[in-house]
Amino acid sequence: IATRVFNKPEESSELIAREIADMIKKRQQEDRHIVLGLATGSTPKEVYAELIKLHKEEGLSFSNVITFNLDEYYPMDPGQAQSYVRFMDEKLFDHIDIDKNNVHIPDGTIDREDVFDYCQEYEKKIREAGGIDIQLLGIGRTGHIGFNEPGSSRESHTRLVTLDKATRIDAASDFFEERFVPRNAITMGVATILDARRIILMAYGAGKASIIQRTVEGDVSESVPATFLQDHPNTTIFLDKSASSELT
Ligand code: F6R
Repeated sequence: IATRVFNKPEESSELIAREIADMIKKRQQEDRHIVLGLATGSTPKEVYAELIKLHKEEGLSFSNVITFNLDEYYPMDPGQAQSYVRFMDEKLFDHIDIDKNNVHIPDGTIDREDVFDYCQEYEKKIREAGGIDIQLLGIGRTGHIGFNEPGSSRESHTRLVTLDKATRIDAASDFFEERFVPRNAITMGVATILDARRIILMAYGAGKASIIQRTVEGDVSESVPATFLQDHPNTTIFLDKSASSELT
């Protein structure tokens, strides 16, 4: 996998936002829409801030943009402070001219018996939109992409999953206590992610150094789902110095 190392996350975020903006504009010239796969969490926040800046300062329009978010906690009410619906509205959608009908985030309120069908429908919507052009990813300490925890197969698609203990510990501060972190999530699968034509994974900080080393240099295996990216033809991993520090 290609890796790029930056002095600061801000430099990396700026470049990623530029790449996305250029693709949006190119599609506008061709009178076509673009499909973005989006991530939440602390890592992509700066990219969204940059995109808002490009909208406000350079008039970048999102009128031709369709988005699919990777995941949502389950169960989760969209109005709850920790929901990824709230996150995306606050960090991006409320500040740009995207048509909210073009925004898709897994619904954490679906009845359990309907979740399977709902996930099939989510996959169908991605296909009908023409597939994902650019997929943004963060990475968890467990090696998860989306919420595909260790054990997720290369062939997995959108589904209900159980969060790892380490993931719930990492999310505890958002929920005040670990016991309030939902046990489940709806996530795009590994195969859903690998179908994207371009994948951008970001990781910053020393806490990500060891999992980045395993992702880039380790054997491809379900025990670190991010290693499946090694088989993707157009993935770049954007790192700061600390996150790259264990690469040989
Ligand atoms: C979020 C997601 C997760 C995060 C990962 C890293 O939509 O799919 O895989 O990207 O847990 O989270 P942060 O960026 O908070 O370190």
